[in-house]
Amino acid sequence: MTRDTFYITTPIYYPDNRLHIGHTYTTVAADALARYNRLRGRDTYYLTGTDEHGQKIERAARQRGVEPQKFVDEMVEWIRDLWSELGISYDQFIRTTDERHKRMVGRIFAQLYEQGDIYSSTYSGWYCTPCESFFPQSRIDEGVCPDCGRELSWVEEDGYFLALSRYADDLLAHIREDAEFIQPATRRNEMIRFLESGLEDMCVTRRRDAVDWGITVPFDEDYVIYVWFDAVCNYITAIGYGEDEEHFERWWPADIHLIGKEILRFHCVIWPIILMALGVQLPRKIFGHGWLTLEGEKISKSRGNVVDPFLLSEKYGRDVVRYYLLREIPFGSDGSYTERSLVQRTNYDLANDLGNLLSRVTAMVNKYCDKMLRIPEGEVTEEDRHLRERAQKALQGAEEAMEDNMLSDALDCLWELVSAANKYLDSTAPWDAETTAERRSAILYNAAESLRVLAVALRPFLLDAPAGIWEQLGLSRNGPVDATSWDDTVWGGIPDGTEVQRGDPLFPRMDPDEVVGVGDEAEDMEVGEEEREGEDSLIDYDTFMQMDLRVGEVVDAGDVEGADRLLRVEVDIGEDQPMQVVAGIAEHYSPEDLIGRRVVAVANLQPTEIFGLQSEGMVLAAEAGEQMSLLTLDKEMPAGSKVK
Ligand code: ME8
Ligand code: MG
Repeated sequence: MTRDTFYITTPIYYPDNRLHIGHTYTTVAADALARYNRLRGRDTYYLTGTDEHGQKIERAARQRGVEPQKFVDEMVEWIRDLWSELGISYDQFIRTTDERHKRMVGRIFAQLYEQGDIYSSTYSGWYCTPCESFFPQSRIDEGVCPDCGRELSWVEEDGYFLALSRYADDLLAHIREDAEFIQPATRRNEMIRFLESGLEDMCVTRRRDAVDWGITVPFDEDYVIYVWFDAVCNYITAIGYGEDEEHFERWWPADIHLIGKEILRFHCVIWPIILMALGVQLPRKIFGHGWLTLEGEKISKSRGNVVDPFLLSEKYGRDVVRYYLLREIPFGSDGSYTERSLVQRTNYDLANDLGNLLSRVTAMVNKYCDKMLRIPEGEVTEEDRHLRERAQKALQGAEEAMEDNMLSDALDCLWELVSAANKYLDSTAPWDAETTAERRSAILYNAAESLRVLAVALRPFLLDAPAGIWEQLGLSRNGPVDATSWDDTVWGGIPDGTEVQRGDPLFPRMDPDEVVGVGDEAEDMEVGEEEREGEDSLIDYDTFMQMDLRVGEVVDAGDVEGADRLLRVEVDIGEDQPMQVVAGIAEHYSPEDLIGRRVVAVANLQPTEIFGLQSEGMVLAAEAGEQMSLLTLDKEMPAGSKVK
């Protein structure tokens, strides 16, 4: 069941240190869900923020010799910059140091105390400061934290307790009745087992002499409210609980709290029980996603294996980082991070599949159709029908997956269409001399139309590529892609006579062997060893300089009759006549891919005859397994320039 409003939250982040790529995962995923719901025309509210109280923050500030407030102010600014770098479209950023939040948490605490749901008693137990959690004896061996592996402290103090046990049965019944409440199912089962084993009441204060940085218990100055009690309340204080009823009623209950799986208990047990005690409806869904791991372990601040999302985004672009996170890790499961897999994802999916589809289409519309996309009037072929069916199926699949919050599945579906459109071009071969002008125009319209619907459907995931596709297809004249909605994924939206605007490739191809990122070291050792083996076959400088390497511009290209793997390529190398090269690249490039490209050519190779054609030189390409990439230039250089 869906509503016409959508309220989504991320956890609020500890600003005790710089965030890493694992944190980014939660906000990027929530952002994609928020953007999808906006695209569906739902009134959407996306809340994120920072969890600023407690011993962990207090210590981090003290270590840096600043007041906690000043410390968190600076960290929060950095976090907001990070979210803006990644295009996180939150509607509100709550800080637990906000006056309204502090005031309301105090009121909630006092109300539960008056009702008897909070009572005073004595507590002793093992406490982990980095995790801000108590652990029962049963989960501990060797005196270290079962979650982060760091040393625990024995804490003994009087305090105030939340009567979890009072509500345990009602909560268990709710979780059993409503299969949607905790997702995915494995986490739901985990919580059911946890509740079945019995719930103890929980201490929800710390003594002020142990922790000073927090919200004071309103009726007892010696105590500070436990940071997790304080933090979970943000989901309702942010939207005006107790103070701005109209705003609160509009958004609550939350449609989804998206969280990482390690904070499931706080969200699936403590938080619902606070709400039950307050007489407030429970959130509709709590979704616990998996972890990004590095060399088999959760990427975490306390383990120190940090990957800086800012640097990654600056290096590769925000679309690359967003796409990688949402596609590579099956949503709900863990996934391992390496920078090389990010580069490979980008090359295969973004540069080769999506980017290449756009450059093929725009190049051919330029070349064969006078830049013009015309609504087809001729007969609809079997291949055309098939492409439209694939498009419909992909969009429907993506929609179902998104309604189910399954982000990686949605991208899998959309890439089915990317690949169907590329195959459609291969099999309909608009470049073939036998294809009529009318048919060519129809094929290219259909391929362009696939790209148009993809641009719309990809808007939740990618922020720059949809605009790039829109621009190059010539659709921007009728309004920006940002003005589209999910209804615009209906087939046939390119207006007759739209003029394409060929532009730069959407995504650069990158060399995975050049990447030495976090998580890649182990593999790099092996590469280094291979390189050393070649040492005794060195050539001298003069030998190298005998090669005449030049920048060439591909001015024409075509198939070689009888040879599937070969292409005839005409390269301008600054001479009177272009040089003809027969190159074994047909499995990786189509002729229209090549025209206009600047490549590196060997100009003084002994000419030879291949399949009846004179081949006068070579164009250079890199090969790895089944992959091939032509050497191109990253700046405009005139044809004929020397390469050395
Ligand atoms: O837990 N992979 O804050 P936080 C995937 N302040 N997600 C990860 C991750 C990884 N390697 N590392 C962290 C807190 N996250 C509390 C929340 S909410 C009322 C209070 C995710 O800064 C993590 O699962 O430690 C969580 O969803 C988010 O980052 C914030 O983590
Ligand atoms: Mg954490």
